[in-house]
Amino acid sequence: MYRLVFTQVLRRFDAEAVHRLTVSALALLARLPLLKRLLHRAYAPHDPALRVSAFGVHFPGPLGLAAGFDKDAVCAEAIAALGFSHVEVGTVTAHGQPGNPRPRLFRRFRERALINRMGFNNAGAHAAARRLRRPRGVPVVVGVNIGKTKVIPESGAAADYVASAKELAPLADYLVVNVSSPNTPGLRDLQAVSLLRPLLTAVKEVCDSTPRRTPLLVKIAPDLADEDVDAVAELAMELGLDGIIATNTTIKHDGERGGLSGRPLKERSLEVLRRLRAKVGDRITLISVGGVEDVDDVWERILAGATLVQAYTGWIYGGPLWASHIHRRLLRRVRRHGLTSITEAIGRTA
Ligand SMILES: Cc1cc2nc3c(=O)[nH]c(=O)nc-3n(C[C@H](O)[C@H](O)[C@H](O)COP(=O)(O)O)c2cc1C
Repeated sequence: MYRLVFTQVLRRFDAEAVHRLTVSALALLARLPLLKRLLHRAYAPHDPALRVSAFGVHFPGPLGLAAGFDKDAVCAEAIAALGFSHVEVGTVTAHGQPGNPRPRLFRRFRERALINRMGFNNAGAHAAARRLRRPRGVPVVVGVNIGKTKVIPESGAAADYVASAKELAPLADYLVVNVSSPNTPGLRDLQAVSLLRPLLTAVKEVCDSTPRRTPLLVKIAPDLADEDVDAVAELAMELGLDGIIATNTTIKHDGERGGLSGRPLKERSLEVLRRLRAKVGDRITLISVGGVEDVDDVWERILAGATLVQAYTGWIYGGPLWASHIHRRLLRRVRRHGLTSITEAIGRTA
């Protein structure tokens, strides 16, 4: 049904227009307490066998929505009610900004992929903080992903991230330093250890000073050379980070300018996960994202060492209840393998 609507109706409209309409509909749903609770009861993962704990946070299942969809933290509860175990909001920057000129989001149907050069369009950390303070009505784990404001030069990057962290770390279940989006000039240079160390150290100080000690993760690009993936992993362990999210979109493609996500990213994302697991073992949490389309992909990432898995493009092509269906199929798989908890599968093939 969704495939029919997608191919016959939605694809005729501009991708960003559909996105904005969807976010508005979900924001409305987030304000309807009864419907939200009913949907949550029907579609969110509830079986204890799917529960996962990571960095002191309890997730009802392993599959969450990756950053970039709910940039302004307007609809996380509605997304959770449709079956995602957690929502990573953002990327949020210290100062609100419009992002790049449109068009900036493109579908690649045949490859089940998207290309985007949104450029961190968002209302800024203060506005996001105000929304995150609102009561949610249904349980949802909310991670907050922060990035650099475009007009801030590299020399001011650490202070800019710290400003966002001060606003948002106290309100986040976990905080993510995003240094891997391809659409803010120079952002990915911050992945070099010499720049990343002072940046992460400064943000970690903020996270450590919140009442609950907010877990801190870093999100990396798939286009890093393997040695650089290793270097970030070593740095993450040295600094006592809670985890690494791998990966963001890739610029290695021949289409429109921007980052490519979805099916073409699958192989490299899995490769980076395997490399990270070989380096860090189970000392820090790995969250795998990139090209996840079905239950087999989620299972493969968990076996390869991911504690949590995220997706964005797979949901766009899979339909509103995609995450709920995957959690159901995962539960069947856990039982078929004779496991009592999905956590027993983490890293089995690593
Ligand atoms: C339209 C769009 C916007 C995105 N915006 C962000 C963002 O603001 N911050 C971020 O860390 N990742 C962003 N991403 C990357 C996703 O979080 C994810 O890492 C990437 O798309 C790979 O996962 P997927 O193949 O499941 O889409 C965006 C992706 C898309 C498609």
